[in-house]
Amino acid sequence: MFERLDKLPPDPILGLMAAFRADADTQKVDLGVGVYRNEHGETPVLDAVRRGEQAVLSRQKTKSYVGPAGNLEFNQAMERLTLGDDHPVLATQRVRTIQATGGCGALRLGAELLRAAAPDTIIYASTPTWANHVPLLTGAGIKLERYPYYDPETGGVQIDAMLSYLDRLPPRAVVLLHASCHNPTGADLNPAQWREVLGVVKKRELIPYIDMAYQGLGDGVVEDALAPRQFAAELPEALIAVSCSKNFGLYRERTGALHVLNPTPVTAEAVLSQLVRIARTIYSMPPDHGAAIVQAILADAALTASWRSELDEMRNRINTLRRETVAQLAKACPQRDFSFIERQRGMFSYLGVTSEQVKKLRTQQHIYMMDDSRVNIAGLRSETIPYFAKAVAQVL
Ligand code: LMR
Repeated sequence: MFERLDKLPPDPILGLMAAFRADADTQKVDLGVGVYRNEHGETPVLDAVRRGEQAVLSRQKTKSYVGPAGNLEFNQAMERLTLGDDHPVLATQRVRTIQATGGCGALRLGAELLRAAAPDTIIYASTPTWANHVPLLTGAGIKLERYPYYDPETGGVQIDAMLSYLDRLPPRAVVLLHASCHNPTGADLNPAQWREVLGVVKKRELIPYIDMAYQGLGDGVVEDALAPRQFAAELPEALIAVSCSKNFGLYRERTGALHVLNPTPVTAEAVLSQLVRIARTIYSMPPDHGAAIVQAILADAALTASWRSELDEMRNRINTLRRETVAQLAKACPQRDFSFIERQRGMFSYLGVTSEQVKKLRTQQHIYMMDDSRVNIAGLRSETIPYFAKAVAQVL
């Protein structure tokens, strides 16, 4: 049986992570996989997470099953984190949440739900989008198409092209949107542009599928959640996949959730029953530990405040690194304008070099980035930025 199977190439992001680990060079720089790193190059356990974890362990009396939708208190806490404590939709019983195995699990559950509701659904994703969106969503049997998004000339969003593309879609077409910190480009919509997108979504009766994997790492917890909050206030239906990997630093605990906004509480009950069935047929129930930690943090005002200040620190560090990178690149390569990096948000930016140049940076300078020149800005450090800028100047 298994002799029929061909060996597959490694996943583009995780394969790069393995290649970096295997490189023995002492100056190597990892700008590949999207994990936050502090000024020592470490991805530490947040202090609030450590304290939340201790609280969970000291309170925990059993390892028995939690339930098919996961930790219900976590689900409610995540609704409030995503939508805001006083969001009007929370009182209407129209939102249902299922705990998921990270943002990936949430995205897949949503795609499976869409297929159950309408097998011929097409999801429209930005050009470009996160590499794993494609297998995650099409793996559920859903077709994926692309709308124009990134403008390499300006490092911003081609808003007119995006809007006019969306304005031609049929009703119930699903539009995948990155709430903030667009992966892989770092180019986000501003509040006025979100309004325009919402206008077209309403007019064409489209279904937004919002992926929020970086809440708090762009402009702030509230600012980054502008789209889910505004869309949920004005639309009958939406899907919102959220991840606690980056903002809580819980990567390996696989903690996330899928929120579904429904036209009525009755539909909401039907949707939750479908989601629970879908999860049961794939993995039965989500792992508890990460969700229990997040719930412990969000249920305790002091822990929440401590988490928020650690999150602020991560965000400020990334935005400082963006400024320092632009300054050093301007010095090392004055002929080229990299100022767009400072205008972008979150962990990622496209450096805008060719795949040949990316290869040279990897083999000659031991600097690892994705083949399409996506760099994880959080992988840089004040000490490594000059080395990075000089290396870029050498390959340009
Ligand atoms: C990334 O884009 O590097 C992260 O979201 C990690 C991943 O799972 O790909």
